[in-house]
Amino acid sequence: MEIKFKKDFVERYSNLTNFKEFKEISLKPLARTIRVNTLKSNVKELKERLNDWDLKPIKFYDKAFEIEHKKKERRDVGNLKEHFLGHFYLQESASLLPPLILNPKKNEIVLDVAASPGSKTTQMAAMMENTGIIVANDVKPVRLKPLSINLQRCGVVNTVMTLQYGQRMRGKFEKILLDAPCSGTGAIRKSIKTLQIYNKGMIKKLSYTQRDLLFNSFKILEKNGEMVYSTCSLEPEENEGVVNSLLEKNENAKLEKINVKGLKTSDVVLDFEGKSYNDEIKKCLRIWPQDNDTEGFFVAKIKKV
Ligand SMILES: C[S@@+](CC[C@H](N)C(=O)[O-])C[C@H]1O[C@@H](n2cnc3c(N)ncnc32)[C@H](O)[C@@H]1O
Repeated sequence: MEIKFKKDFVERYSNLTNFKEFKEISLKPLARTIRVNTLKSNVKELKERLNDWDLKPIKFYDKAFEIEHKKKERRDVGNLKEHFLGHFYLQESASLLPPLILNPKKNEIVLDVAASPGSKTTQMAAMMENTGIIVANDVKPVRLKPLSINLQRCGVVNTVMTLQYGQRMRGKFEKILLDAPCSGTGAIRKSIKTLQIYNKGMIKKLSYTQRDLLFNSFKILEKNGEMVYSTCSLEPEENEGVVNSLLEKNENAKLEKINVKGLKTSDVVLDFEGKSYNDEIKKCLRIWPQDNDTEGFFVAKIKKV
């Protein structure tokens, strides 16, 4: 099937990146990546169990691997017994970044505002060694089903699920992950539907929702608490623009510099369609799919001072 990039998409993205490189990589399939679920297994044990498969370490996390069948006879990693048993989670490598950057610790009280299907919730539960509390929220009733299946499969016991508009969540949390609903332009390699439905109106509408979600999340973050805002979108309006509005309205919101060893990153966007964003936004992380042969992602780490 021929994949068509709309004219306004090509124009916009040619101004943001090397479009030729972006297009080339976007048409290539993504490597399959698994994260070892340390609540049920460990790297050594999983390698022994999956001895028909090559596990190639990814650059920035020692518990995740690209996986390929040694004889190239199969690709259905999701059908492996070890997957059903929750010994690993199939997770795109860039999607590992937001929890690694938030770094939830044992016994902390954590909110995952937009949690389903739970890749990052289960990753955080493992990082917290099943202690403390995670409130895993989503707004769509149908999305709670895959979330609960994944929590159960992975042996997560420190998490409660809630069904609520993230904009209306209440309480106080030490750490918050807002992996926001987004246009997904960084994830074209996973779903080309993004290209078909892409339009600027949708981006604007999403950016309003993201801003409301971010503002409320910041409100319910404890003083000295930390939060991560992430999207798999590459649109400045959904990323730098949203973070910029928080910095404009809350002087106690401070960005923390993100450094991930082994990861190639790109410059953030500080001027876009006549708007200039705060220089502090340079502390955020923007990766294009061609930087590391992954999905594209944007991550901001915010502290409430
Ligand atoms: C990018 S996905 C989250 C992926 C998830 N964090 C993971 O790593 O598996 C965004 C999620 O936000 C949910 N969502 C959309 N609008 C929301 C809202 N207003 N409040 C809370 N969740 C929302 C969607 O149902 C969707 O499940």
